[in-house]
Amino acid sequence: MEHHIAEDGVDHTTPEPRVAVAALIRAAGVHGLRLRRVLAMLVAGWHSVEDLIRTQATPRRTVEELLAATGTDLGRRRVDGRELVRIRPECAADYRAEFATAELPAPVDQAPAAARLSESLRAAVRADVAAVPPPMAALDHVQATPESVLRRAAWLASHYDLDNASVLFLGDHDLTSTALGRLHPDLAITVVDVDDRVLAHIDRIAEREGLRIRCLHADLRFGLPPSVLGTSDLVFTDPPYTPEGVGLFTARAAECLRDGGRVLIAYGYSDRTPALGLKVQQRLHRLGMLFEAILPDFDRYDGAQAVGSASDLYVCRPLGSGTTRRGDTRIYTHGPQSGESTGGPSAAALDALRGLVSAPTPLPVVEAEWTSPTTGDAALIDAMADPGPWLFRVLAAANTRQLGMLVRNNHPDLLDAAAQRALSDLVGAKFRLKFHRSTPDGRHAVVVASSIAASSAAEPDATRPAAESSIAGALLRKAHGRIANVWREALIRRESARGRTLTKNQARDLVLASAPRRDELDLRLIDLPRHRVAAVLAAADQPAAEDASAAGSAE
Ligand SMILES: C[S@@+](CC[C@H](N)C(=O)[O-])C[C@H]1O[C@@H](n2cnc3c(N)ncnc32)[C@H](O)[C@@H]1O
Repeated sequence: MEHHIAEDGVDHTTPEPRVAVAALIRAAGVHGLRLRRVLAMLVAGWHSVEDLIRTQATPRRTVEELLAATGTDLGRRRVDGRELVRIRPECAADYRAEFATAELPAPVDQAPAAARLSESLRAAVRADVAAVPPPMAALDHVQATPESVLRRAAWLASHYDLDNASVLFLGDHDLTSTALGRLHPDLAITVVDVDDRVLAHIDRIAEREGLRIRCLHADLRFGLPPSVLGTSDLVFTDPPYTPEGVGLFTARAAECLRDGGRVLIAYGYSDRTPALGLKVQQRLHRLGMLFEAILPDFDRYDGAQAVGSASDLYVCRPLGSGTTRRGDTRIYTHGPQSGESTGGPSAAALDALRGLVSAPTPLPVVEAEWTSPTTGDAALIDAMADPGPWLFRVLAAANTRQLGMLVRNNHPDLLDAAAQRALSDLVGAKFRLKFHRSTPDGRHAVVVASSIAASSAAEPDATRPAAESSIAGALLRKAHGRIANVWREALIRRESARGRTLTKNQARDLVLASAPRRDELDLRLIDLPRHRVAAVLAAADQPAAEDASAAGSAE
């Protein structure tokens, strides 16, 4: 054997690294192909470890073991803060020869239709994804690559007759909905997500591009908007990867399907922890899911390196009737709502909450949710687990004189004066809010909401319509009602209080004329994305609507 002494003084042709690499590949048996593909990349040139993981859908630990085995044969350099690695050129020929890296079979392409997508569509999807709100670890956001999103869209469009179909996305920070909508602009798509930022982003794209995408808000742990039950032909979801998360999202997906529908699930586990994969699959089987296909390594992600930055696509046909009522809240892999989390509110925080809300008798502290209206004189809510969107929903659902909510001190609605003002303005037709930050300590905060109906008679607010005549107030007090009905009845009541008569038909016409979007009128306010709630409430109390109703009642 020839010995090449490189500039760094190391003899790079010692066989030891290759012996170690060969041992690893031998130990992997029939699964050694992945390792040899990683080697092929390393022999060909510089790559970041993240690229190696994602391209070959191989868990980080497996890639790291291989890199460790290459020892002194591995070159490293830093470019723009990223470490890149490769097999040193002087060793490359030996690696090529010993591991036959030039003769490896190409991986099976699971979505060949994606190759035929236009460059303009690719560019548009890349731009949509580049502008998506930053990931929130507490919601298990891990962005699928634009290429994966395009592959999903191409696969769906080439496997199903999408003419007249209805497709639902349960969670879509990845933006598969907008990619599919761009590919198939006539398709009726609905997106349900707990993250109002994601819904606003998707809605903006849909409006700009004229796509038929309807966005609805829900936390799947508590339930679904009634308007999506039993309505979809296909439901696509990339759920949190705990068994609880996959189980919850899949059960909710099944609730949304029409007869003959299918659930498509992106799910990945590491081949180093197959028991976890089994647990998830057993959960899916218990839900009555027949696996029609499992397409391996279908998706790639920026992150999730423990599972090789990849997931498989499960095509499931539901044969059971598994429905879920309130779901387990600990569904995430990280953060305060993960299985490992133990943090609840402290006793001192609960005391602080009780101390800030006046009630004739001691009140229980109940967990936050908004599936039905909260009634009674006062209520105390533990919203410490709120990832952000709950606080507004809890306020929208409450019809109490006073409401006290315990939230984390760094809650996005409390962060600064502007955030607090935005929330106060949004619910201002129903509640006056007081924010008690760092109460009783740096981890907790208390928000106290006081009904303006109770206080407005005593101290009227010149900047708002009187509590009883505000249509926005009525909509907020009946957030679980159909928007069209609540709005119409509120108009009729207001005109009657002013001594004027408005017929049901006149009121309905006024609502149609004032609503920012007619297709929202059949929905419940509580299910709208937050930016749409703001739009509806603003339209309901705008002066034009007032003038029109006066004209209508005078006829
Ligand atoms: C769970 S994440 C999984 C990772 C995925 N690749 C992503 O980043 O979008 C998928 C989507 O589910 C949404 N989501 C998370 N928890 C949810 C919940 N409890 N209810 C409704 N949607 C939820 C997230 O906002 C996200 O859009």
